[in-house]
Amino acid sequence: MTTRILFVCLGNICRSPSAEGVVRACIAERGLDIQTDSAGTGGWHVGDPPYGAMQKTAAKRGYDLSDLRARQVSVSDFDSFDQIIAMDADNLHNLRALRSTGSQAQLSLLTDFAPQLGADHVPDPYYTRDFDGALDLIEHCIDGLLAQL
Ligand code: 4NP
Repeated sequence: MTTRILFVCLGNICRSPSAEGVVRACIAERGLDIQTDSAGTGGWHVGDPPYGAMQKTAAKRGYDLSDLRARQVSVSDFDSFDQIIAMDADNLHNLRALRSTGSQAQLSLLTDFAPQLGADHVPDPYYTRDFDGALDLIEHCIDGLLAQL
């Protein structure tokens, strides 16, 4: 059965589109039965492509993010996805507030999937400027996530 995974950050232009791009590459390489998407809790960048420096960093590792466009998370996402995975505790808090009572979607933090790293969030490279560090962490966590499916 197809597993539907939504990644969520604040702006949907750095961390969550990168996570989507990494999973897309794994789907293409390994033929996994996964549908993936990403969204932001904030709406400032709706319609925008991923942030330029994030795209460049991802492209160097073979992830093409250029077709992605930011969108804001919506209540219907809680019915459309099996897993909704947040990049930090603020995103998770906002997702819990949006969630309707009947939703079966499992909410988690991306860093939950790589507990060996001891990280409790993916630092936002829009502010830290550490795009490689964010992508390193995202790749490790996605290895753990896909190993659990
Ligand atoms: P993201 O990073 O949540 O990883 O997409 C951000 C990018 C832009 C803004 C916030 C976070 N912003 O407020 O413009």
